[in-house]
Amino acid sequence: MAIRKAWQSNAQQPIKMEWKFSPKQLLLMYWYKTPRLASCAGVIADGAVRSGKTIALTFGFLMWATETFNGQNFALCGKTIKSFERNVLGPMKLIVRYLGYTLIERKHDNRVIISNSDGHVNNFFLFGGNDEKSQDLIQGITLAGVLLDEVALMPESFVNQALARLSVTGAKIWMNCNPEGPSHFVKTRFIDKYQEKQLLHVHFQLSDNLALSEERRAFYDKQWTGVFYRRYILGEWCLASGLVFSSFNPQTMVFDNLGPDLWRYSAYYVAGDYGTTNPTAVLVIGYSADTGTFDVIDEYYWSSKAMERQKTDDEYVADISALASKYPIKAAYFDPSAASLITALRKARVFPRLWLANNDVLNGIRFTGMLFSLGKIRVASRCKNLIRELQSYSWDEEKSEKTGEDVVLKINDHTCDALRYFCYSEVYVKAKSYGLGNIVALAGRMGT
Ligand SMILES: Nc1ncnc2c1ncn2[C@@H]1O[C@H](COP(=O)(O)OP(=O)(O)OP(=O)(O)O)[C@@H](O)[C@H]1O
Ligand SMILES: [Mg+2]
Repeated sequence: MAIRKAWQSNAQQPIKMEWKFSPKQLLLMYWYKTPRLASCAGVIADGAVRSGKTIALTFGFLMWATETFNGQNFALCGKTIKSFERNVLGPMKLIVRYLGYTLIERKHDNRVIISNSDGHVNNFFLFGGNDEKSQDLIQGITLAGVLLDEVALMPESFVNQALARLSVTGAKIWMNCNPEGPSHFVKTRFIDKYQEKQLLHVHFQLSDNLALSEERRAFYDKQWTGVFYRRYILGEWCLASGLVFSSFNPQTMVFDNLGPDLWRYSAYYVAGDYGTTNPTAVLVIGYSADTGTFDVIDEYYWSSKAMERQKTDDEYVADISALASKYPIKAAYFDPSAASLITALRKARVFPRLWLANNDVLNGIRFTGMLFSLGKIRVASRCKNLIRELQSYSWDEEKSEKTGEDVVLKINDHTCDALRYFCYSEVYVKAKSYGLGNIVALAGRMGT
């Protein structure tokens, strides 16, 4: 028997919340009621992070669906069901209570049932664009409306499926996202063609969220540089171009660290990227609890091509052991594809803990870039290869333009990859204990 877990909001007593809506938010909430826009097939809201898109879209969608329809099915979609629950369903429950509706949650079939005092009762099914099961399930359903939160993080095939299910008369699509590259399908198919597709396009800036304090805005402002600043703060659909880590400033982030300073760190880590024909790069990173920084203090770099000789796993184990033996290493993170080297390092017990790193390239880059922007990473001057690669590791503009996805050039990336492994596997996962919980909450919304 299916386990039934129901949560029911208190419909009799609408709760008092301090909502402060901006004109753009009000447009997103009530456009379907205005004679000029009522015939639109849907709406797409894009723009800066934390600018109030999701809250306004959720308000509008719930009011439109509940007041217009009775006995219909709707889809609530996020990148994954989990991310939807985290980012949208929580605020949605507050909104439902604020509107005086009733919500019953049926966890076993990812459904919420929402009703109002006019006796309208509708089903809202949760789907994740990146969840395989959701892709199959959405194919078999007839919908009166779809809400796609963070639509630019979903595969185009899923968005097509969701659109194809909108067969009830008066059905509409409600979408929102942060900008990506200019050739991304959301930009070229929906935003650029909003008139042809009969969509309302609403562009959000940080100033459209009246609930954001100056302090909060300044905090968001500091997190990004380069392409990510243009996308997430300025709200531009711009190409990933130039340096990947444009937030690395050699003037202020490189230090001389020889002598007793080397021993002042609270914890030491190793991170490594492995190549056979490509270089193998290993970094030693010290975490300073005093400054709250992650200092790259030593490196190992072997380029088979430059040295005209490939090393065996045993030779690498000897080299890496020599580097690691100089520091009390707490844990190491290695390129997950370096299976044979990892086995050899484990067999030789070079590190007390050796983990396979998380190799999610784009999210790892975004997070590492955030740490640079906030001045959380510093590099010792003797790490010449890392300093060189940080200043040459670049986006592949041609491929990014062609595919609509962000693509990096796979050159000068070895020490950068090692650093990313450390940041995204150690710092991201243990962010709270490093006092970086706030950043992760923001990075998480970007797609993890
Ligand atoms: N009208 C409002 N009144 C009070 N608080 C609001 C209002 N609009 C948004 N907020 C708050 O501001 C924050 C950001 O809002 P929201 O999640 O809607 O932004 P977003 O543009 O979807 O952000 P992201 O791009 O990061 O997903 C949330 O904490 C939300 O509760
Ligand atoms: Mg949002």
